[in-house]
Amino acid sequence: MSNPSYVRGKSIDNSQYAHLSMSVSDDIAALKETVFQHKAVRTLKKFEENLKSRILTRDEIRILLASEGMFVLEVPPGIVALASRMTDEWFKKEPFAATGRAARILFAAVDEYGLNDMEHGLLPSHHQLYVDMAAHWGITAKDLLDDRNIVPSAKEFSGVIADYYRNRPIIEALGFHVANEATAPLDFGVFLATFREYREQYGLKAENDPHLNFLLVHDDVEVSHREMGVECVQLYTNGAKALVEQARRGVLAYMECYGRLFTELNDAIFGQKPGVRRASA
Ligand SMILES: [Fe+2]
Ligand SMILES: [Fe+2]
Repeated sequence: MSNPSYVRGKSIDNSQYAHLSMSVSDDIAALKETVFQHKAVRTLKKFEENLKSRILTRDEIRILLASEGMFVLEVPPGIVALASRMTDEWFKKEPFAATGRAARILFAAVDEYGLNDMEHGLLPSHHQLYVDMAAHWGITAKDLLDDRNIVPSAKEFSGVIADYYRNRPIIEALGFHVANEATAPLDFGVFLATFREYREQYGLKAENDPHLNFLLVHDDVEVSHREMGVECVQLYTNGAKALVEQARRGVLAYMECYGRLFTELNDAIFGQKPGVRRASA
């Protein structure tokens, strides 16, 4: 029987653990700006304008969700792999510090796997929530995996994600991860805002319709994942310029793929028509 005087997560005085909050150097904090100033974000903006210009057909929603689903699928196992790689690397140098440090990356996976409210039990994983969202439009998990519904750059993106999280130098993977966590609220935010604005046309009953749970949960958690990722860059590099530059290359690699994905989605769904007509609300 467990010790009744210990309450999980409540019996530890977190204020004693200095590692729970840390400051980061300016050039590491600037990695976020590298994301937000990147031209790929402007490509997403164009996609948003198009998305709000008219209601998508079911076939178009299928292309959107199956293509976006490629990186939705690839990221959680990638995060676990990166956390494991970091643990192993640090374990050789500072064994008792390794898990506590890699926790900043594994933390993001806790949400992905539905482990963030264990007082009440397991929650659905983000992958399950994604399939539930697609099911609202009659789109199945099989449809989401069908190459005919996926733009080529989404496929390439998933390969690059697998490679960065599992094989590339850890510092580049960390930059790549920061870009992923920093951009997720942007694209998921665009979808959430669009489906909310046109909820009747999309068959949704409320602003927070449960079919939107996948998008709602990301609205909630991603900033904390991003900040933990940034802190991890600080821990890993200790501010060393050459390493921070390597992290920045990881950020840029992510943004390149991200821009290509939304360029192709724009093309596949809206035919890159300039000045697409706005929907009459
Ligand atoms: Fe997620
Ligand atoms: Fe995340």
